[in-house]
Amino acid sequence: MLSLLVLAVPLILSLGHAAPAPSQALERVGIVGGQEAPEGKWPWQVSLRYRDWYWTHRCGGSLIHPQWVLTAAHCLGPEKTDPADLRVQLGKQHLYYRDKLLPINRIIVHPKYYAVEEGFDIALMELRDPVNTSCNIQLIALPPASETFPPGTPCWVTGWGNVRNGVRLPPPYPLKQVKVPIVENSVCDAEYHTGVYTADSRQIVRKDMICAGAKKKDSCQGDSGGPLVCKVNGTWMQAGVVSWGKGCGQPNKPGIYTRVTYYLDWIHQHVPEKP
Ligand code: ARG
Repeated sequence: MLSLLVLAVPLILSLGHAAPAPSQALERVGIVGGQEAPEGKWPWQVSLRYRDWYWTHRCGGSLIHPQWVLTAAHCLGPEKTDPADLRVQLGKQHLYYRDKLLPINRIIVHPKYYAVEEGFDIALMELRDPVNTSCNIQLIALPPASETFPPGTPCWVTGWGNVRNGVRLPPPYPLKQVKVPIVENSVCDAEYHTGVYTADSRQIVRKDMICAGAKKKDSCQGDSGGPLVCKVNGTWMQAGVVSWGKGCGQPNKPGIYTRVTYYLDWIHQHVPEKP
């Protein structure tokens, strides 16, 4: 009975938007743009679940240590979230399919976080039990402090978030990936000063942020907290944490990510360097 309910709930949740016709399915896949991820390609990807009337997907995250998940502060705060109301799902391609949800010991939201536009959008979750890595569950490396991820670096963002502004990922909720171009901070800041934002001199894209994305290539609502990863000298490393943006996939409004190199010291205050 319980398992029936568990299967039915995500279907009910998604009734709001009609399932795509097969011919449209390819277009509908995104995060925004992009495609369905090959199984096991992003083995550090986490789905962060929140207890409302069901354990619903709220945000992404990434496994950086056998007992620690990196995510965005806005997924957990600034109001305190009780770790008992959270679970994480690891090593899965489809949301809600054979869920094995792991309990959380402790949540650490960056103490200076209060709004995404102000930065500090980073948080850690300690799992109750360390996980065994396997082919579907692996750690993502943190970058060296000197890594700037210049434009041209091959980077990808992954998640179960919206496929465009206001449009949820349809069942069966496969993990999506999209390759996103890195946009240099000053260029990104200038882009955010045009259009809806008044052309004042206040910095919008801060030092602790990194921009990536292009028209119809972006993360979106529900991808927050998930990883922006780049391949540098043959190694995948996490450059950013999905944080915010103006709409999703709009031209000249790249997605804005928390810049991981900026928070290495803070991360290592809590997470042991070696597993
Ligand atoms: N804040 C959103 C979330 O909670 C993520 C928005 C990312 N937006 C973007 N254009 N990349 O899921």
